[in-house]
Amino acid sequence: FTIPEPKNEPVYGYAPGSKERELLKKAIQELKSKELDIPMFIGGEEVRTGNRKRIAPPHELSHTLGYYHKGGREEVERAIRAALNAKELWENMSWEHRASIFLKAAELISSKYRYELNAATMLGQSKNVFQAEIDSACEIIDFLRFNVKFMEQIYREQPISSAGIWNRVEHRALEGFVFALTPFNFTAIAGNLPTSPAMMGNCVVWKPAETQIYSAHVLMKVFREAGVPDGVINLVFVDGPTAGEVIFAHPDFAGIHFTGGTSTFQRIWKTIGENIAIYKTYPRIVGETGGKDFVLAHHSADTKALATALIRGAFEYQGQKCSAASRAYIPSSIWEEVKNYMLADLKEIKMGSVEDFTCFINAVIDEKSFDKITGYIEQAKKDGVNIIAGGNYDKTKGFFIEPTILQVQDPMYVTMQEEIFGPVLSVYVYQPENFEDVLTLVDKTSPYALTGAIFAQDRYAIDLASKRLRHSAGNFYINDKPTGAVVGQQPFGGARASGTNDKAGSMLNLLRWTSARAIKETF
Ligand code: ALA
Repeated sequence: FTIPEPKNEPVYGYAPGSKERELLKKAIQELKSKELDIPMFIGGEEVRTGNRKRIAPPHELSHTLGYYHKGGREEVERAIRAALNAKELWENMSWEHRASIFLKAAELISSKYRYELNAATMLGQSKNVFQAEIDSACEIIDFLRFNVKFMEQIYREQPISSAGIWNRVEHRALEGFVFALTPFNFTAIAGNLPTSPAMMGNCVVWKPAETQIYSAHVLMKVFREAGVPDGVINLVFVDGPTAGEVIFAHPDFAGIHFTGGTSTFQRIWKTIGENIAIYKTYPRIVGETGGKDFVLAHHSADTKALATALIRGAFEYQGQKCSAASRAYIPSSIWEEVKNYMLADLKEIKMGSVEDFTCFINAVIDEKSFDKITGYIEQAKKDGVNIIAGGNYDKTKGFFIEPTILQVQDPMYVTMQEEIFGPVLSVYVYQPENFEDVLTLVDKTSPYALTGAIFAQDRYAIDLASKRLRHSAGNFYINDKPTGAVVGQQPFGGARASGTNDKAGSMLNLLRWTSARAIKETF
């Protein structure tokens, strides 16, 4: 038997009047009409502590979506025990049965939970319909289907043998439990980080970002219904430091699958380093930690395609993608044209609730993000930076920030260097003859190396940029926006300050969750 050849899940259009749009609107109304009481889920049991925290849509702060039960040290300890108890049965289950569970989870999302999961992502994380569909429907389904296929390839790949000798490689689960620490900005990433280690036979403690709990709860429901056994994925709601104190001090801690901020990741790495002697095995550290992603245009670029890529790359999901285009380098010879196209596009863009399907821009995730992003905008105003679009914001009803474009004079200005994680694009206009110097600038300006794009029609320029920016991005786009990697098509991740580059949605990633035993038998 073989795992069915995976295909990317089709993206639904939700056109006005379509059945899909009606079903999604119904799911949104249903979710909005009840206040959910969301428990943790540990060792097959719902866990309620009574310490209830309110969840509200970032774009409609007056509405209560529900409450989640917050845990502490005790719940983390319990989750670790549950994971360790479940381990023996789970890692010894034949891989095709583990595969079946995750293939079923993909089918459940595709055919049964699609609308509920999209609605939860839209309401809880303020994603518009298209952004939700490509994330909490397509991408998570793709992760599940493709990873199962990669898992099969890993298990099947075997070394050569010879007469009288049979060599084999056995991929064992890690010795201990895995910790999945997941972000708010992609429901798919939140789902992938616990499931990819689980597929390879590991049991997981999963701590989602507080701001993603609403859709994490639906994912957990899917995993349970798909047949993930008790204790294999344990969902806990605790603050980061509490989780860290318990998990990184545990001798059976065997790996972390992380997406989040660079400073958090570096702190975690340091703690693991300090505790290294207590662990039974060297823990696997896999992290994706942000970006300061560039779009570099050559004077031969197609200006319309470039403008569209900048608007979509910088402002889709309010710029809250680690892959978002946040610094652009544009030659003066095409700048006016590109700027005019962008300003014309921005005029058409609406900002508001996710329930108005015509809104391209919704709210940023929470007050902390809002304050951080608007802090950069205020700083730019104070510094006399030319604000060519946006610059306004308001948090009375929700955390709304206009798509903002800054034209900076100094290519090393703070907004060209630091990750803002919001709808702010900084543009540096350069003299076309300085293209080669700009390549150096692109590489040296930021410590990150996640995504980047070159726009050019001149193939020499593309070739030069590809070579000189070899280490500047783990996902490099030629004449396309730097966001929207598709599982099975563009494995995703970056190096330098952007992470360990163990590409999500690839065999490389799954290999991190196994420890191989080489067996030689002589006859
Ligand atoms: N994988 C996401 C993207 O490529 C972050 O935009």
